[in-house]
Amino acid sequence: MNTNDAPAILGGTPVRSADYPPWPVWDDDERTRLLHTLDAGGWWQGDGAVAASFAQQFADYHGARHGLALTNGTHTLEAALIACDIGEGDEVLVPGMTFVASASAVLAVNATPVFVDIDPDTLCIDPVAAEAAITDRTRAIIAVHVAGAAADLDALVELCTRHGLRLVEDCAHAHGTFWRGRGVGSWGDFGSFSMQRSKLMTAGEGGVLICNDDALRDAAWAYADCGRVKGEWFYHHATVGTNLRMTEWQGAVLQAQLDRFAEQNRVRNANALALIAALDQIPGIRAQRRDPRMNTQGNYCFVFHYDTSEFADLPLRPLEAALAAEGVPMGVSYPSLSDLSVFRNHRFGPRRRTHDPGIDYAHLHLPRAEHAAASTVWLQHRLLLAERDDVLDVARAVERIRRHAAEIVRRSAHGA
Ligand SMILES: Cc1ncc(COP(=O)(O)O)c(C=O)c1O
Repeated sequence: MNTNDAPAILGGTPVRSADYPPWPVWDDDERTRLLHTLDAGGWWQGDGAVAASFAQQFADYHGARHGLALTNGTHTLEAALIACDIGEGDEVLVPGMTFVASASAVLAVNATPVFVDIDPDTLCIDPVAAEAAITDRTRAIIAVHVAGAAADLDALVELCTRHGLRLVEDCAHAHGTFWRGRGVGSWGDFGSFSMQRSKLMTAGEGGVLICNDDALRDAAWAYADCGRVKGEWFYHHATVGTNLRMTEWQGAVLQAQLDRFAEQNRVRNANALALIAALDQIPGIRAQRRDPRMNTQGNYCFVFHYDTSEFADLPLRPLEAALAAEGVPMGVSYPSLSDLSVFRNHRFGPRRRTHDPGIDYAHLHLPRAEHAAASTVWLQHRLLLAERDDVLDVARAVERIRRHAAEIVRRSAHGA
């Protein structure tokens, strides 16, 4: 314990003397499965069943009928949009608070992403704002479950049904998030998951697309496998496709990751709830809202809202630096899509040569997404796998910084 309580950023001893558990987690199971795949000689999906069987188990876990093992969580979105027959002239609603891929996948299929503002508490797409953005060109909504917090799936399913729209759930952050007893990704036409290194289950890269409909599954598979038709001659290409197949190596690693996932999800959830309870006692801090219809949250990040006025006007970036100095593993909020230069400067080449999107992204504002980007703190999920008391060190670090916020502000004004 640091006797004078000075925050680490002002030279005190950090709250954390040891680091949190590392990510990714792996053990002999990954090693054995990888070696088995090597020895079996079936290194691509055409010769083996490892990746396909993993994807099917992953789909089962989330309550969907089909799972496709693909290259990453950007390509899964692209394959979902292609399977839904979305292309030039079509508009797809995308929430402002997300990674660029949720919108760039729309551009990749030559459709137009239309940005929609978010619910300020969950940070997910606001169904009311989504409805207001629907035009006669709108074909789909991409709902992102931000940091694993489920978007309002009841409202979105109802909205899409009423307007005849496709619903693609971008679940890149939300492995293991359950909504009213069923996994996310199984509510819309497709659920798209990323298995990139930082995600809750990883093979370094990778993606899984889940869905319930046979025809949509076949269409996504055809696109991801060079336009082939399942069960037909290898060189029969019925439609235009590409190669988005996951390797068997990735499948082997992901099978091991899936086998330990349920227990990790349980631990992360219990720790997240305890941390929320502790942080919510601190003036100026409010955890990302968990909708009561969400049973479990697959916390890709742990996110809380930060009100500087309760911290002597200490800005967000210095707060993040002070938390990092205390040993808290920090992430960072995405900027709002409305602030990304690719959109502001209309840099959509080389695919989009002919179609003017008809949207002036440079003058578009999403006040709630922009505010969230400037006022939310994102922590790495690996801390949620620590012992409970270690997890609660995060709240102790925040409290300490609050006690000394005025001093941190004063010293930084004097360049200390
Ligand atoms: C919300 C969201 N969608 C899609 C992706 C794309 O996933 P990948 O990196 O596997 O292509 C990411 C990646 O971070 C993401 O955060």
